[in-house]
Parts: sequence; structure tokens; C-alpha cells
Amino acid sequence: MIQVATRRMINVWDLPTRIFHWTLVGLFVFLIISGDMGEELIEWHFYAGYLLSGLILFRIIWGVMGSEHSRFTSFVRHPKTTITYLKGMFNGNAEHHYGHNPAGGMMVIALLVLLALQIATGLVSTDDVIWDGPFYGAVSDQVAEIGGELHETVQGLLQLLVLLHVAAIIFHRFKYNDPLVPAMIHGKKPDMGGAVSTRNVSVVHTLIALGFSAVWVLYLFSLPL
Ligand code: HEM
Ligand code: HEM
Repeated sequence: MIQVATRRMINVWDLPTRIFHWTLVGLFVFLIISGDMGEELIEWHFYAGYLLSGLILFRIIWGVMGSEHSRFTSFVRHPKTTITYLKGMFNGNAEHHYGHNPAGGMMVIALLVLLALQIATGLVSTDDVIWDGPFYGAVSDQVAEIGGELHETVQGLLQLLVLLHVAAIIFHRFKYNDPLVPAMIHGKKPDMGGAVSTRNVSVVHTLIALGFSAVWVLYLFSLPL
């Protein structure tokens, strides 16, 4: 059982990671709703998808250049480590992690990969009426058809994973009294010893990540619809 030994708080999630997360939540909800509404919101569906692609690109770069707990090297673990962690978690003696635990880290990678696939397939999809993804014309009919089918399947998978993601966070809150949601809002967690607090984020790294993402998004918006 995790117990809060002291009231001292340490920085875990840097501001870019927090902004990334809550923007992602907003865009995801809008994309699911607008995708399901057919023609009505399809133009905005495209725009939100473009923005999401910039967001995901940002997070990938941030996974290399971001602060301690946002880096892939700090939370991508071997599957065996993840299984050991999961066993401990259900037995009520999960080891504490300040950043993503091994199972959470795996979930993050799965979400990022599937979101990237959802975006890529959206770019080559068509509604068979008026709206073609900007790269629909650049691929063969067969690729566009597979893309369209995947676009439908992967969004369902994503919704399931998001349910699991939120369920895991609720589980941690009640089983381990771990305040994960507030930490994703204000960035801090209680110091329980052995903490690696995040340093201030590098302005240069932030500008590099923002620059690449902005150029990509502007390029997409410049394409004819
Ligand atoms: C209201 C719904 C949601 C809540 C309360 C929530 C909460 C959280 C929390 C607390 C974390 C940090 C977990 C940890 O400490 O290891 C997290 C991480 C994450 N969540 Fe969510 N989440 C929600 C919805 C979503 C959705 C819809 C998506 C994507 C489709 C998503 C994708 C992610 C990703 C990718 C991370 C990793 C953040 C990073 O390292 O950049 N979440 N979420
Ligand atoms: C660059 C981004 C994207 C583009 C250009 C795009 C394009 C499209 C198009 C053309 C359709 C209509 C397909 C049809 O009528 O059969 C569609 C449907 C849909 N999209 Fe997207 N999309 C993008 C990203 C996303 C993302 C990121 C999500 C979810 C996270 C999403 C979720 C959906 C859903 C739920 C539907 C309705 C189900 C379906 O027909 O596939 N889309 N999208």
C-alpha cells in the first residue's frame, strides 16, 4: 500500500506534457463525435485530425527531448518487467513509480501508435461522397480501401483502450490512493523518497518540438480539401 510519507511535493509532469494530454483528450472526443456525425462535421473532423497529428509529432519529439519522466527511456520497459509489475499490482503490492509505471508506459505507447495509425489512415480515407483525405489521390484504390477499413476498426480499438486507461487510473486511485489525475493537472506528486524531480524544461528543446509540429500542421492546412 502506498503511503504519503511527507507533504513535500515534487515536479513530475512538465507543462508541455500536461498541455499535450488535455489537448489530446479534447481533440479525441471531438474526432470520435465528428467522425460519427457523417457529412455534418467532416470538414472540422479533418482540421481536428491535422491538429492531432501535430500534437502526436510533438509528443514523439518530446519523448526524446522532454524532461525526465516524459522521455520514452524512462517508461518503456521490457514486457517481462510489465508482467511482473501487473502481478504485483493486482496483489496489492505494486512498486511505486513517479512517472508512468511499466503497464502505464505500455499503454502510452499503444495509444500513440494507434493514434498515429488512425491519423495515417484518415489521410487516405474517403467518405465516397465529397470528402477525400488529402493523400487519398496519392495512393492506389486498394490502399485507400484498406485505409478506410482500418480507420473504422482502429477508432473502435482506441475507444476500448481509453476506457481501460481511465479504468486503470480509477483503480490506482482507490487501491493505492495514488492521485494520478491531479498530478496530470498541476504536475506534482507527493515525495515518497528516491524521487527524481524534473528539471526546468529546455526552451530550445521546446521550440524545436513546437517548430517541427507547426511546420507539419501548416503544411497539412495548406493542402486543398
Ligand atoms: C477524462 C479522461 C482521462 C483522464 C482522467 C486521463 C488521465 C490521465 C492520467 C492521470 C495520466 C497519467 C498516468 C500516469 O500517471 O501514469 C494520463 C496519461 C496519458 N493519457 Fe490520459 N486520461 C484521460 C483520457 C485520455 C484520452 C482520451 C487519451 C487518448 C486518446 C489519453 C491518453 C493519454 C496518454 C497518451 C498519456 C501519457 C501522457 C504522456 O506521457 O504524455 N488519455 N491520462
Ligand atoms: C488526419 C486526420 C483524419 C482524416 C483526414 C480523417 C478522415 C475521415 C473520413 C474521410 C471519414 C469518413 C469515412 C467514411 O465515411 O467511411 C472519417 C471517419 C471517421 N473518423 Fe476520421 N479522419 C482523421 C483522423 C481521425 C482520428 C484521429 C480519429 C479518432 C481518434 C477519427 C475518427 C473517425 C471516426 C470515428 C469516423 C467514423 C467511422 C468511420 O467511418 O471510419 N478520425 N475520417
